[in-house]
Amino acid sequence: MTEPKLTDFTQPTPQLVEWTRDLVPGSALDIGTGNGRNALFLAREGWAVTANDTDQALLTELAKSFKSQNLTGNFIEGNISNLDLHESYDLVVCLMVLHFLDALQIIAAVDRLKAVTKPGGCCIISAFTDANPTGTRPYLFAHNGLRDAFATWNILHYEEHLGSWVLPPGKTDPIQYMTARVLAEKPAV
Ligand SMILES: C[S@@+](CC[C@H](N)C(=O)[O-])C[C@H]1O[C@@H](n2cnc3c(N)ncnc32)[C@H](O)[C@@H]1O
Repeated sequence: MTEPKLTDFTQPTPQLVEWTRDLVPGSALDIGTGNGRNALFLAREGWAVTANDTDQALLTELAKSFKSQNLTGNFIEGNISNLDLHESYDLVVCLMVLHFLDALQIIAAVDRLKAVTKPGGCCIISAFTDANPTGTRPYLFAHNGLRDAFATWNILHYEEHLGSWVLPPGKTDPIQYMTARVLAEKPAV
């Protein structure tokens, strides 16, 4: 068995890279963008990106990175639970964010992500699951829970995977998380 590698947060999420390869670039929303590794990747690939985070400092840095790479983007600070979203997007991304929310907030957040996806558009979402070997979170998806949240959509990819090592902020021991990931397509009307 190959030893998992420490996640490289300077690189886009490998599944996002793979799963967007066959999509035609349009508008994209990245919720909880963090350092924006995925927002930058999508913008370089021709997507018109709106990046969101609760952390304005991260967005300010990300806007600088966009500018230095001659990319344009929109940056909106706020919490997915009460974010003012008036547009819909061809691609909605929310990677490794939902496990910061509690159960009710997660249900509402997934509904919002689905609502702001255009018919025929896609959502790419990942979150830890309750097979997580370490620690607790306000809420964790059960086995197949993230897939079930998209039961009425076309599931193009779904996986639950004991992922790469992650070094939590302020810690020296890396840990591995069981992560669920979905690429789901909203039915066209
Ligand atoms: C683990 S990082 C993941 C960053 C990025 N999605 C990635 O995969 O590299 C989680 C990010 O979500 C943001 N975040 C946490 N709770 C949030 C919320 N309720 N709404 C929007 N962003 C949130 C955090 O500030 C952080 O930048």
